[in-house]
Amino acid sequence: MKRYELAVIPGDGIGKEVVPSAVKVLQTAATLHGGIQLETTEFPWGCDYYIKHGKMMSDDGLERLKNFDAIFLGAVGDPNKVPDHISLWGLLIHIRREFEQTINIRPAKLFKGLTSPLVDPGAFNFLVVRENSEGEYSESGGRIHKETDEIAIQNAIFTRKATERVMDYAFKQAVLRKGHVTSATKSNGIVHSMPFWDEVFNDVSKRYTGVRTSSVHIDALAAFFVTKPSDFDVIVASNLFGDILTDIGGAIMGSIGIAPAGNININGKYPSMFEPVHGSAPDIYGKGIANPIGQIWTASLMLDHLGEIALAREVLRAMEEVTDAGIKTRDIGGNATTDEVTNKICLQLQNNIG
Ligand code: NAI
Ligand code: MG
Repeated sequence: MKRYELAVIPGDGIGKEVVPSAVKVLQTAATLHGGIQLETTEFPWGCDYYIKHGKMMSDDGLERLKNFDAIFLGAVGDPNKVPDHISLWGLLIHIRREFEQTINIRPAKLFKGLTSPLVDPGAFNFLVVRENSEGEYSESGGRIHKETDEIAIQNAIFTRKATERVMDYAFKQAVLRKGHVTSATKSNGIVHSMPFWDEVFNDVSKRYTGVRTSSVHIDALAAFFVTKPSDFDVIVASNLFGDILTDIGGAIMGSIGIAPAGNININGKYPSMFEPVHGSAPDIYGKGIANPIGQIWTASLMLDHLGEIALAREVLRAMEEVTDAGIKTRDIGGNATTDEVTNKICLQLQNNIG
């Protein structure tokens, strides 16, 4: 029996609704599998905790989290009670930074039963691998000569270490998928960092001779995500480019309520953290209508990361069969509740595996 220790942080708003749903699906899947055991420990951190204790997580929070196999997070944010910069930086970004989760992954695929805003989306199924620790989002720079002659300088930082790291991860994913990596570049316009990016891409690709490579300028690539998304398998991108591409990826799937994400630690010192793309959705919290698919897909991504690849696929398959059967929450055109969708997915898993 394989045993996994999972830290569960529902957080705020609909995180408190969709996390229990996804944990239920995870436990159903584990029981049906028979060979794995998921030990979950829940942490009550978030905005309610902040209101009581003046901090988003306990002082020894990271210490308590660091030995888990993975962290499963809902969403944080209660903008009417706690300013967003406090809630996001005090929990989510704190964990991402301190646990060296230097890579962000976001898959996107055409889901059966969902309507893409694209007229002819094709059966797209890709994974964006984004550098999550440096690049364009750096604190290096400054502003001088205030007022009329003001100058703002924003430096982008590209280290060989981080660039190789994210590319290597992308190639490893491609080996497990369709064997194609596309690099998001802009070496025709950004003359120092992007030619460097291309060089490293070229170097890393030599280690993966079976993987096909393409290099596409970010502007054209953004357009291709709309005109022919099914051409892609794994896309590797810098922090800024990846940020933009993943929003397009989410948009063409049809709802923010279904998109999953993972923050990956690859040096093995700390756990990785899995969370859906959406936030705490205070506008629908408490109504029982939140779409649990984003959180459940996130659970599947976590299983995949833990090495339970077959079980991860089963969860994904059950989810898709349920949406395809028209059992959907309101945001994707149905009228089912969070619980109805969750129970149906558990039932579907029982039918498929049991
Ligand atoms: P949001 O993603 O919470 O909501 C945007 C819109 O999408 C809302 O109309 C919401 O009802 C809908 N929506 C989101 N998830 C849904 C789901 N699963 N099912 C059905 N509908 C869904 O973004 P918003 O409103 O900008 O932010 C609300 C709070 O969440 C803020 O405090 C923000 O800082 C926080 N936030 C946290 C994130 C995180 O924890 N990673 C990410 C984004 C926002
Ligand atoms: Mg974004």
